[in-house]
Amino acid sequence: MRRIVIARPGGYEALQIVASPTPAPGPGQVRIAVAAAGVNYADGIIRMGLYESAKRLHGYPITPGFELAGHIEAIGEGVEGWSIGEPVVAVTLFGGYASHVCLPADRVFPLPPSLGLEQAAAIPTVFLTAWFMAERQVHPEPGDDWLVHSAAGGVGGALAQLGRAAGARVVGVVGGAHKVDAARTAGCREVVVAEGDWWRRVEALAPAGFDAVFDANGVRTLAASYAHVKPMGKLCIYGFASMLPRDGRLNWAKLAWDWLRTPRFMPLAMTRDNRSVMACNLSFLSAEAALLARGMRELLDRFASGALVPPPVTTFPLERAADAQRAIESGRTVGKLVLVP
Ligand SMILES: NC(=O)c1ccc[n+]([C@@H]2O[C@H](COP(=O)([O-])OP(=O)(O)OC[C@H]3O[C@@H](n4cnc5c(N)ncnc54)[C@H](OP(=O)(O)O)[C@@H]3O)[C@@H](O)[C@H]2O)c1
Repeated sequence: MRRIVIARPGGYEALQIVASPTPAPGPGQVRIAVAAAGVNYADGIIRMGLYESAKRLHGYPITPGFELAGHIEAIGEGVEGWSIGEPVVAVTLFGGYASHVCLPADRVFPLPPSLGLEQAAAIPTVFLTAWFMAERQVHPEPGDDWLVHSAAGGVGGALAQLGRAAGARVVGVVGGAHKVDAARTAGCREVVVAEGDWWRRVEALAPAGFDAVFDANGVRTLAASYAHVKPMGKLCIYGFASMLPRDGRLNWAKLAWDWLRTPRFMPLAMTRDNRSVMACNLSFLSAEAALLARGMRELLDRFASGALVPPPVTTFPLERAADAQRAIESGRTVGKLVLVP
């Protein structure tokens, strides 16, 4: 098998391709011949050595990758219901950037016939994250106003689709005019390009504020995001990308300064305002197999029926994982990036 290994945190050069014997699946596992592995913004944070769950739950050396699609190639002891050659999509806590992966069978799901393997590999992480926030935290109602930052990206695009499907009026914010069409296609009724006095344009679209604001920028927008939540509304925090570099070079002074500037939310003010702050990290929910399986089944059913559509996908060969990470960290990509072993 071939896989990408990060021996020690570092720049893009830390992503090395390594060959090793193909593992046999253990009891309760299946081995998947990977056709496509999703790339997530978090994978670069793992490379930088800043991703908390990678440090706490795994350590280095590490192979990044939270999701993949491919074919069942071997079946471990005690596993029933799968046959060799069956196409599948799977959720994994690291290890996805590889040609072969052994996984517990409860992390593996049948590929809906309507999805290609590259499309399927683009779905689990961003849609599960969006699903968790929408279904478990926000509980949307038709007519709700949502504000989704980075609405042309992976999680942002998934949120826009889930919001529209729930009847919410989704306003998307994007970092460049080239992303507007993708955000609209994903489900945004209005799209604001984050240039100039863009919060004024956001306010004009929802003068009373938003029932839900989804923010993975961190310090750059967090205080204003909270200020634009209306009473009884929720701010969902799920990332901090604006602390991080767009060129792969960590700036520790900026990181420290941004950490100091990150808003601390005041329970007294939140109570007075009737506004809530929610937060989530999918990788720290990886032990919640039943929850993730429920989310995956619900989502895949909706993809199978055509109610959800996969994001636009850009592919890179596995050995160009560094270029894929460079691209997603540039902040210029739309949709999802996928590695093809
Ligand atoms: N908590 C969780 O469980 C969870 C799960 C998945 C992802 N996430 C987080 O969700 C965010 C999106 O992840 P994704 O994989 O779907 O990526 P993505 O949205 O496809 O790409 C990242 C986007 O973030 C925006 N951004 C803001 N500041 C940036 C910076 N300094 N450098 C680069 N991009 C920046 C850019 O969009 P605009 O310029 O259009 O704003 C960029 O296109 C990330 O922060 C990630 O860590 C969290």
